[in-house]
Amino acid sequence: MLTVGTVQFAPVRGDVEANIAAITQLLAGVRADLLVLPELANSGYLYATPEDLAPHSEPGDGSGPFLAALSRLAGQTGGMIVTGFAERAAHGLYNSAAAVSAAGAVQVYRKTHLFLDEKTLFLPGDTGFRSFEHAGARIGLMICFDWYFPESARTLALAGAQIIAHPSNLVLPHCQTAMVTRCLENRVFAITTNRYGTETLADGRSLTFTGASQVLSPRGERLAQAPVSGDAIALVAVDPALADDKHVTARNDLFADRRPALYA
Ligand code: ACM
Repeated sequence: MLTVGTVQFAPVRGDVEANIAAITQLLAGVRADLLVLPELANSGYLYATPEDLAPHSEPGDGSGPFLAALSRLAGQTGGMIVTGFAERAAHGLYNSAAAVSAAGAVQVYRKTHLFLDEKTLFLPGDTGFRSFEHAGARIGLMICFDWYFPESARTLALAGAQIIAHPSNLVLPHCQTAMVTRCLENRVFAITTNRYGTETLADGRSLTFTGASQVLSPRGERLAQAPVSGDAIALVAVDPALADDKHVTARNDLFADRRPALYA
């Protein structure tokens, strides 16, 4: 069994240190094998230009202050922490997720499906969907709007992911319910960690985030859910092996019954 959890908070735009402090406070005394933070938890979400965002971004190799702090916190919690973060690469910025252990960043995923004005700020992700081993489980990463593309969760599940860690800054309705279907059709666990609150830019653009972070089972059961607003941590004990049984009936295996030759 693994203790997994969602850690919901409202990142402060442009204040990496404040966000590290908020996460540190939230995780005081918490022990868990896998924790998931929201999307862009270092930087906040709304920026007018890549130049505005760049000072609050950092490399994906763990050499910056945010991932280094999470690595220290992973040592305290005794497990892995998955976070969304603004990643600075040689040729531009990515909206990325990192899986961080006490040893540093284990895996970086760059968001495949950019949402709305993210297309101004970020390069389209180029990592693709992979799974990796952690504490006897296989973990896969996707970010927020990736939920609208069933290929994201499907590709992760086909790559062996038993638990999908899904840092988010959700603004559209339906993700929390749509993820039930993503779990049912792939028989995987999913931890969607959302933020809450509102961000407003000087030009009047404003987004309100929907909170309600959740942990779902391969049977689509909601094992835990945070409120629509407010800091929250919800921890659940899960058996990742439950995601290995793809049977819906005695004669229907969701993966064995696929007909890829007819999908082209
Ligand atoms: C989103 O992808 N942050 C809506």
